Amino acid sequence: MSIHKACKPVLVAYATREGQTRKIAEHVAATLRARNFEVDVVDVGSDEPVELPFYCAAILLASLHLRKHEREMTAFAKTNHDVLARMPTAFLSVSLAEAGAEDSSRSPALRAEAATGVREAIDAFVAETKLHPAHVHPVEGVWRDRAARDARYLEARGRPDGHLPRLRAHGLARARSLRRRDCGGVAAR
Ligand SMILES: Cc1cc2nc3c(=O)[nH]c(=O)nc-3n(C[C@H](O)[C@H](O)[C@H](O)COP(=O)(O)O)c2cc1C
Repeated sequence: MSIHKACKPVLVAYATREGQTRKIAEHVAATLRARNFEVDVVDVGSDEPVELPFYCAAILLASLHLRKHEREMTAFAKTNHDVLARMPTAFLSVSLAEAGAEDSSRSPALRAEAATGVREAIDAFVAETKLHPAHVHPVEGVWRDRAARDARYLEARGRPDGHLPRLRAHGLARARSLRRRDCGGVAAR
């Protein structure tokens, strides 16, 4: 996004669940500050009030979970639609699907499938918020401890639809029962 030099301040607003999008938001802010822009970074999932009309441009970032961008960002974009629509905006979508789309070790078909998933999620964000950012950039997300395990678990079962607690409970029960069998009926832990 090209922002006019006289534009100040710029809002970098993000929604995160595991913290990766915060890091990316801070990186974006540091890059803009290095170019002499005045920048505020705001977590839209916090209670911090945002005086949106005070800003001349907004960069929005949100991670993807279960094929949807963080609901705090969707709510922010919907609530502030009219003000956002009058200023230059960019949207950065953070996801593992984008990591798959950019992974040169994967087959072209898998990469294309991942890219389609990213595009569909971004299209859904635009359709729901009715916000049309001038610039949209998919950004690679990261695997992270439980985040990684949960996402792999859902993907493996083809159930990226929000039934995680039940699935995880079921998975744990199954794992325990296997362990019991492995240990002659005595749970290992
Ligand atoms: C429960 C769960 C569901 C996820 N679902 C998706 C998904 O549907 N598509 C995707 O590309 N990435 C998915 N991810 C990966 C996240 O988008 C990725 O880890 C991202 O870096 C998280 O960013 P955050 O730390 O800012 O929340 C999922 C991660 C978790 C833990």
